[in-house]
Amino acid sequence: MKAFVTGASSGIGRDMARYLSSKGYDLILVGRNNQKLLELKSELKTSSRILNADLSKTENVMELYKQIENEDIDIAINDAGFGVFGEFWKTDLDKELGLIGTNITALHILTKLFLKKMMKKNKGYILNVSSVASFAPGPLMATYYASKAYVTYLSRAVSKELKKANSKIVVSALCPGPVATNFNNVAGVSFSMKPLTSEYVAKYAIDNLLKGKRTIIPGKMNKCMHIASKIAPSNIAMSAVYKNQTKKNA
Ligand SMILES: NC(=O)c1ccc[n+]([C@@H]2O[C@H](COP(=O)([O-])OP(=O)(O)OC[C@H]3O[C@@H](n4cnc5c(N)ncnc54)[C@H](OP(=O)(O)O)[C@@H]3O)[C@@H](O)[C@H]2O)c1
Repeated sequence: MKAFVTGASSGIGRDMARYLSSKGYDLILVGRNNQKLLELKSELKTSSRILNADLSKTENVMELYKQIENEDIDIAINDAGFGVFGEFWKTDLDKELGLIGTNITALHILTKLFLKKMMKKNKGYILNVSSVASFAPGPLMATYYASKAYVTYLSRAVSKELKKANSKIVVSALCPGPVATNFNNVAGVSFSMKPLTSEYVAKYAIDNLLKGKRTIIPGKMNKCMHIASKIAPSNIAMSAVYKNQTKKNA
């Protein structure tokens, strides 16, 4: 059994790699921080291969896939991602293009290429890490929220196509709320509510992926937010997001 994990050097991705290894999966660990990936590799019980790639650039993503296209991968996890905080007219364009490259383009490419391969055997799992941020537009983190809407909607639509085609392949979107990782330091924010641990989110995500759940929402509060987002008019949801975002000291 083998799993592929981007964002394996930190946070949720690292804990998913740890949990999968404890379940007997060999791993392909992707990230830019080689030292952290080496530390992770040394603690895992199963065998693992490290691949360094900056996923913000399309050519790196294509090159990465070339290196693994002959591997027999059962689970592919697109976890790598980051956020940018601030009013849209003040935030850095290059950072945002990197965000779109990593959160959207890389995930899109890898989902397609893994799925094409999995279709041949009619088996496999793809887990795309989205966020509760995909439930409403997100003023003050506009690009990040929009990127996660793409992830959730792409994953759900592809999942529907697979169901209609009677495929056994599972494509799921993981939608966590706040999780205690390095995410906030990178985005330059602090949480306005108590975060879940990445160990809990990782285990919950993998267990539900393997059960075939298509939208995975860890934590009662986040499940409530999901229900509320379906009921509340988008303008009201967006105002609530804005109020919440202003509590995140940028
Ligand atoms: N923490 C939260 O509150 C939260 C909530 C909802 C969703 N999420 C999502 O969960 C996922 C994981 O984030 P996290 O919370 O675990 O944060 P984290 O601890 O900062 O981990 C982010 C991971 O993404 C990788 N990454 C970022 N930019 C990359 C790039 N250009 N190329 C390759 N890898 C890149 C990082 O690896 P390197 O630095 O080694 O490249 C790191 O392994 C993200 O998609 C995030 O949007 C997080």
